[in-house]
Amino acid sequence: MQAAAQTLIAGHLVAFATETVYGLGADATNSEAVAKIFAAKGRPKDHPLIVHVSSFEAALQWADEVPDYVGKLADHFWPGPMTLILRRSALATDDITGGQDTVGVRVPSHPVAQELLAAFELLGGKGVVAPSANRFGKVSPTTSDAVWQELEQHLSVDDLILDGGQSSVGIESTIIDCTSAHPQILRLGAITASMISAATSLQLKNDASEIRVSGSLESHYAPTAKLVLNQTANAGDGLIALQSFQTPKGAIRLAAPATSEEYANQLYLALRKADELGLSRVVAITPEGDELSEAINDRLMRASYKS
Ligand code: TXA
Ligand code: MG
Repeated sequence: MQAAAQTLIAGHLVAFATETVYGLGADATNSEAVAKIFAAKGRPKDHPLIVHVSSFEAALQWADEVPDYVGKLADHFWPGPMTLILRRSALATDDITGGQDTVGVRVPSHPVAQELLAAFELLGGKGVVAPSANRFGKVSPTTSDAVWQELEQHLSVDDLILDGGQSSVGIESTIIDCTSAHPQILRLGAITASMISAATSLQLKNDASEIRVSGSLESHYAPTAKLVLNQTANAGDGLIALQSFQTPKGAIRLAAPATSEEYANQLYLALRKADELGLSRVVAITPEGDELSEAINDRLMRASYKS
C-alpha cells in the first residue's frame, strides 16, 4: 500500500479494487497523471472523473456550498457505492471536472481502496481520480484479471494493479446530483431512490438534467457479442438469467444468479465470459421487482444498444 501510494504521488497510475468495479487511479491534483488516465482509457477529454477519498471530511475539501442533506447521505452510505456531485472548490480543476463547476466525490468501502487512499492521504495526497478501469465504452472490470485484459496494452511499467478479489456490488456507484435543494439520481446503482429519500427525508428531484454523465451515453458497458434482451436463446447463444429461468437446449449459461444482488455481482463477468468464448449473441433475461433490478436493467439496456 505504501509503494502504491508512492506510485500515485510520483504521477503514475494505480488500478485498484473497489466494491463497485475496479478503478484506474491517478493523483487528482497532478494534471499530467490525470492525462494518462484519458490516454489509457481512450476516453474523450471532456468526460469528468470521480475523486476518491478516505472520508467525508476529505471529500469536503473538494466541494463548496454543500447542502445539509449531503451530511445525511454521507452518514448513511459512506464508505460505500455512492458518488455525490457537489459544487467544486478551487482544488477541483477543469481537467477532472470536464470544465464543469461541479465535482464528483466518493468514499469507497473496499479495504484495498480504503487502505490505498489512507496511505496516499498520509503522504499529503488530496484525492485519487478513478474512472472504471476499462477502455472507453466497454464493460467495467470487476476483477484484476479483467483490468489486465482491458489495459495491458495501455499501462506503463511504472503503473500498478492492486488485486482485491471480485467486486461485491458489481455495478458502478449510484451518482446523486447534490447541487440543488433536492437530490437527484444521475446514474442508478445499489444505493436506491427509496434509500436516499429515507436517509434525507426529502423527495428526489426528477428533472432532465444539464449535467453530462458518460454512463448516460446510450451505448455503454458493451461486450463484443451482440446482447439482446428477453428473447429466446437459441443453441449457441449465451444466456444470462435468474436461476429460476431454465436454459433452453443448446444455449450456453453464462450466469444463474439467485437474487438481484447476485445478478449485479455476476453481470459484467458473464459479459466478459461471452467474449472469451467468442459467442456472437447473448440473451439476457431482465430481472424485475426491486430497485436494484432497475439499476441492472439500465446497464443491460445500454450494453445491448448498438447505434
Ligand atoms: O463505482 C464507480 O463509480 C466507479 C468506481 C471506480 O468508483 N467509477 C466509475 O467512474 O464508474 P466512471 O468514470 O467510469 O464513471 C463516472 C461517471 C461518469 O459517467 C461521469 O460523467 C460522471 O461519473 N461524473 C463525474 N463527475 C461528474 C460531474 N461533476 N458531474 C456529472 N457527472 C459526473
Ligand atoms: Mg465507466
